[in-house]
Amino acid sequence: MNPEKLIAIAREVQQNSYSPYSGFKVGAALLTSKGNVYTGVNVENASYGLTICAERAAITAAVAAGEKNFSSMTVVGDHKGYTYPCGACLQVMAEFSPDMRVNVTDGENHLQEYLLRDLLPQLFSLGNQEV
Ligand code: THU
Repeated sequence: MNPEKLIAIAREVQQNSYSPYSGFKVGAALLTSKGNVYTGVNVENASYGLTICAERAAITAAVAAGEKNFSSMTVVGDHKGYTYPCGACLQVMAEFSPDMRVNVTDGENHLQEYLLRDLLPQLFSLGNQEV
């Protein structure tokens, strides 16, 4: 699936973001190795720390559907600059697919593609085993 299609899917789901506290809507489109796409949005809460990021929402949806091998995560945000996944989301992606790609976009849908390993070179794993 091409990057533009994944951006379009993320933009569509972004509208469903529940973000009354930050006012910052995030959408994520997670492409699996089987070619399926799972989406997520950020879901905020009056108890701020309970906020769930869009990327982790997409991952939990994929895992619930039985998929744990991911090809790419495409993220769209709400400002002019590029929206990068936070460190917590990178760590959760790395749990399943440390060699996946991360596609970030700016407010005009310009795309920058990264390897997750380049954004989180020293990820945590139990026992320092290779992941
Ligand atoms: N947010 C995400 O959904 N993904 C990220 O990787 C970074 C931040 C959300 C959390 C919060 O609802 C809003 O963006 C502002 O931080």
